[in-house]
Amino acid sequence: MLTHEKIEKNLGILIILTVLLVSVAGLVEIVPLFFQKSTTTPLNELVKPYDPLRLAGRDIYIREGCYNCHSQMIRPFRAETERYGHYSVAGEFVYDHPFQWGSKRTGPDLARVGGRYSDLWHRTHLLNPRDVVPESNMPAYYWLDRPLKDDYIEAKMTALTKVGVPYTAEEIAGAKKAIEGKTELEAVIAYLQGLGTALKQAR
Ligand code: HEC
Repeated sequence: MLTHEKIEKNLGILIILTVLLVSVAGLVEIVPLFFQKSTTTPLNELVKPYDPLRLAGRDIYIREGCYNCHSQMIRPFRAETERYGHYSVAGEFVYDHPFQWGSKRTGPDLARVGGRYSDLWHRTHLLNPRDVVPESNMPAYYWLDRPLKDDYIEAKMTALTKVGVPYTAEEIAGAKKAIEGKTELEAVIAYLQGLGTALKQAR
């Protein structure tokens, strides 16, 4: 018989049973999320796959490590919703691979920064944050004002279709053209201006 006393005094059995318990409990929490409608389907028809320019901008956001200082997830607490707007919901992020939720907030959360400032404000801010926010300690990203070169944009979009992002063959074929002549700065700004807008527009 496997009595309580036996389990507690036998390290091998204790470890095996602990791992088993934690695994089962973990699966019970995680697996349903793969099938729940609210986590797998877009919140509304305004949540769309990133167009090529925004997708390129998102990659620059990742490349430059913006996520080291900025989260993109508003928690359902009054202190957050008063400052940033409606809390984030899963259906807003179905096309985000990988997520940029994060938890490090040296700077403000950016989940709903789309539309909060003009393109010109972002341009000035990214080139030198101190020009618009004198006390800012955000680094200046002055090198972003250079031509956007993204030779892999089609391959990236194709890869994203494999994880369920519904790009059409035409969209992928037209991707190179869509970002032609743009700068990295324009791509990042296009990305930022789209963040969190689907829920805002629907309300
Ligand atoms: C070292 C930390 C740090 C990094 C890295 C960083 N930021 Fe910031 N960011 C801040 C801080 C602090 C603020 C608040 C002061 C200000 O507005 O400049 C801020 C503010 C912002 C704002 C204005 C948000 C608002 O609601 O007012 C945007 C947009 C932004 N950052 C975008 C970016 C982007 C894009 C990158 C990457 C290219 C980036 N940040 C990298 C620290 C950082």
